[in-house]
Amino acid sequence: MQISVLGTGYLGATHAACLAAGGHTVIGVDTDPLRLELLRHGRAPFHEPGLDELLRSGVDSGRLRFTDDLDEVVDADVHFLCVGTPQVADGDGADLSVLHAVVEALAPRLDKPCLVVGKSTVPVGTAADLRGRLQRLAPAGTGVGVAWNPEFLREGRAVRDSLEPDRLVFGVDSDLDNQLLREVYADLVRRGAPVFRTDPATAELAKVSANAMLAARISLVNLLAEVCEASDADVSDLTAILGADPRIGSDFLSPGLGYGGGCLPKDTRAFVARARELGVVESSQLLASVDDVNTRQRTRTVELAGALVDLTAGPRVAVLGGAFKAGSDDVRDSPALAVASALRCRGAQVVVHDPQAGDNVRRTHPELEVCATAHDAVRGAELVLVLTEWSEFAALDPVDLGRIAARRVVVDGRLVLDGDKWRAADWDFHALGRGTRGAA
Ligand code: UGA
Repeated sequence: MQISVLGTGYLGATHAACLAAGGHTVIGVDTDPLRLELLRHGRAPFHEPGLDELLRSGVDSGRLRFTDDLDEVVDADVHFLCVGTPQVADGDGADLSVLHAVVEALAPRLDKPCLVVGKSTVPVGTAADLRGRLQRLAPAGTGVGVAWNPEFLREGRAVRDSLEPDRLVFGVDSDLDNQLLREVYADLVRRGAPVFRTDPATAELAKVSANAMLAARISLVNLLAEVCEASDADVSDLTAILGADPRIGSDFLSPGLGYGGGCLPKDTRAFVARARELGVVESSQLLASVDDVNTRQRTRTVELAGALVDLTAGPRVAVLGGAFKAGSDDVRDSPALAVASALRCRGAQVVVHDPQAGDNVRRTHPELEVCATAHDAVRGAELVLVLTEWSEFAALDPVDLGRIAARRVVVDGRLVLDGDKWRAADWDFHALGRGTRGAA
């Protein structure tokens, strides 16, 4: 099958490579010349385990290529929309301008029956709107269908999530469109991936609802952590006990600095904005609070740092972590960098180390000093904060670091350090969600 993938960010690049691995002929389209150059050489423009290998094998096989020219995609049977839908600059809703621009550029070029499939995360109702735009702009009688097929991949596990999905969601209007999507994903369906057939609106909602539920779970566990801190209870023990209940489960129960990245924060806000547009005002307040609790974790961390060192005196503060989560070099809406920037604004001399995201931190936060190693960052620091959950940080030797830090004060914002080990090495140890129990 001939397939086009419009937009080659995390979602589009991974999707294009996986479709080519599934035996299709795929053409990826993007406007960013640098990104296209890397992709043409089989290289991912971001850190994503396994993706380089998949891209390279697709490009080498001749089944995968990349272009900036929409005229080259007209022969495709299926067009996947994978462009970004960030938060609007002046509100909470999703900015669909790139999605609209792509559809409006594609529509007049379509001269044979085909299916346009949305994969981008969008407010419910977008597919219906795009159908109207396509009908208006595509040449009369072309026969262009619209379906929604959301993607649930996680950064850092994108290839695995795509090749071994928990579920495939086909939001379609007809048996024909359903059949076409089954052919697109034939290898995954054959290997037993569960398929949910539904209408396009439910498919759109499936994606934002999943992210809203994940965000709510993290904020709920952070609320529990705050109560643990105030009552000298232990949040790790608490989440272990909660997670043993199969109805609750143990995934996504890590408290700390909260969620960030290019998805959960903006999708939660866009969900609330869309719910309000639809007249669901009071109940959507629940999700607005989820966002507030999440932001509060960042403020709480900055306040804790301010209570431990006099930030106005310009102390050196080492921030370990820059990526929004471990396993990724993505710094979009990174909680770690939000805290680092706030500490700098309050007067600290902030140095950041991240195992993968150093270049992105330099690019997006030129005001922050970036160190190549954790040791370089901690040397001479009066306060150390661990703000991304990299396993490398759990493996750090507190005795070793204690020799080079100016003061032995550490905040574990992600509950990755072994508090007993750090205290034994004479560190004043603080962790979000853990009271002072064991500190004596
Ligand atoms: C998220 C969803 O998990 C994917 O299913 C979805 O496809 C994707 O968004 C998307 O919309 O494209 P991702 O942004 O890669 O994936 O990151 P997550 O693994 O969900 O983590 C999000 C944030 O939550 C990170 O900052 C992480 O540190 C934080 N987190 C995660 C916690 O604070 N506690 C946890 O227990 C789990």
